[in-house]
Amino acid sequence: MIKVENVCKNFNKTHALHNVSLEVNQGDIISLIGPSGSGKSTLLRCIHGLETIDSGKIYLDGELMDRNNEKKFREQRNKMGFVFQHFNLFPNMTVLENCKLAQIEVLHKSDAEAETVALEYLDKVGLKEKRDSYPNNLSGGQKQRVAIARALCMSPDIMLFDEPTSALDPEMIKEVLDVMKDLGKQGMTMVVVTHEMGFARKVGTRVVFLDQGEIIEENTAEEFFSNPQSDRAKDFLSKVFYD
Ligand SMILES: Nc1ncnc2c1ncn2[C@@H]1O[C@H](COP(=O)(O)OP(=O)(O)OP(=O)(O)O)[C@@H](O)[C@H]1O
Ligand SMILES: [Mg+2]
Repeated sequence: MIKVENVCKNFNKTHALHNVSLEVNQGDIISLIGPSGSGKSTLLRCIHGLETIDSGKIYLDGELMDRNNEKKFREQRNKMGFVFQHFNLFPNMTVLENCKLAQIEVLHKSDAEAETVALEYLDKVGLKEKRDSYPNNLSGGQKQRVAIARALCMSPDIMLFDEPTSALDPEMIKEVLDVMKDLGKQGMTMVVVTHEMGFARKVGTRVVFLDQGEIIEENTAEEFFSNPQSDRAKDFLSKVFYD
């Protein structure tokens, strides 16, 4: 589905990504993990076209993502849903309006069509009754579930999550992870930057471990956690599991 080929990305003198290659196949739930500053967000943002890349190539369904081909590039980006750590909901719009907006503006659906789809996904994340609330009157977990519903309203082929639970209070983390787990069960392809090792291990199918802008290790979730190969992954895991 997605193929990242030898991608490099620098910010001035910082090598945020160095020769990164990665394949995401249909139905994969990939956990991108690694220390702070290792390039996880940058990789996700490059895949989504939120950042330009300095060299390398990214393909979606076998087709090159090329920002010079504006129309095509926009269509390709629309096939990917992106969920941010800080929700990025429009505060001046209700939950329902948040979910309808891009459907109408980008996919040119009628108001009624957009509403039907919005309510379907709000129901899926358990928030249909909050349709007329404003984001500021929701809990963090509810906001993030709205953000997920809003992304799903665009019928993406793949969902990209950048630390969707790290801004949440502990008791709200599970409700968001449960929504993501359900999505995975329904066959959604996902790439998830996460510090939730339980999720990565139990829900994720593969782990990609990054350090200093490079992929150090890539394995099935089970193998990665039970039998990490590199010293850097071992060191990382020894720090994130408290015992
Ligand atoms: N817009 C930017 N301008 C300059 N440097 C940046 C920018 N975005 C990221 N970087 C740098 O690129 C490197 C990778 O950053 P990135 O945000 O991808 O890391 P990360 O793995 O997501 O970290 P974290 O776990 O803290 O979110 C870091 O050294 C960071 O300081
Ligand atoms: Mg990050």
